[in-house]
Amino acid sequence: MGGAPGWPAVLAVGPVALRPLRVRDALAWSQVRTANEAWLAPWEGRPESAPPASWADRHTPAVFTAMLRTVRREARAGRTLPFAITYDGRLAGQLTLAGVVRGAFDNAFAGYWVDGRLAGRGIATTALALAVDHAFGPAGLHRVEANIRPENVASRRVVEKLGFREEGLAQRYLYIDGAWRDHVSYAVTREDVPGGLVRRRHRG
Ligand SMILES: CC(C)(COP(=O)(O)OP(=O)(O)OC[C@H]1O[C@@H](n2cnc3c(N)ncnc32)[C@H](O)[C@@H]1OP(=O)(O)O)[C@@H](O)C(=O)NCCC(=O)NCCS
Repeated sequence: MGGAPGWPAVLAVGPVALRPLRVRDALAWSQVRTANEAWLAPWEGRPESAPPASWADRHTPAVFTAMLRTVRREARAGRTLPFAITYDGRLAGQLTLAGVVRGAFDNAFAGYWVDGRLAGRGIATTALALAVDHAFGPAGLHRVEANIRPENVASRRVVEKLGFREEGLAQRYLYIDGAWRDHVSYAVTREDVPGGLVRRRHRG
């Protein structure tokens, strides 16, 4: 199997689940990403040097399959935990713990998106709670960081509802939508959540 701590894994609470992305997600991923261009484009980074390409061209099933090959290799090497978010069993988004660094850091960066048609049901918040508990448990990490554009109220609410700390403003942090954008840095460490975030959120 994996060889990397905490990977692969399936995590669930109620109708929300995290599981590894799989080859047969290609068509559903392509459809949901294509339908959500206006919802997602303002918040997602893309390399400054990437050649111009339309949203549709960047979200074909073939693009997914190629991306999956790369992230699977990275996951096996322990550098990322690339989850699909499902809601009642259907693909509803993605949550990735990326940039895993071990040693004295034991840190990862959380990134996530949810289908706009399913927004407001707490899906991303539950998914992040599951991921953080998994990070601090089986994955053996100590800190999870999330960096969010100041104007992304919905995403800031996700981390604030879970008790992430706001730690500062990272200037010109990520290349998004044609410019280097400032981000607010949030983080949580293992000591902050002794009983786990899922338990805190769902069982009192
Ligand atoms: C950020 C995001 C993942 C939140 O997903 P979600 O499953 O809707 O999360 P929640 O249901 O917990 O709602 C979080 C906040 O979204 C906002 N929200 C709720 N319903 C909404 C809707 N229909 N439309 C827009 N925003 C909405 C609210 O501010 C809510 O906070 P509240 O619970 O205090 O009211 C989702 O909005 C998204 O995918 N946005 C685009 C991509 C993105 O920004 N990713 C994160 C980059 S850092």
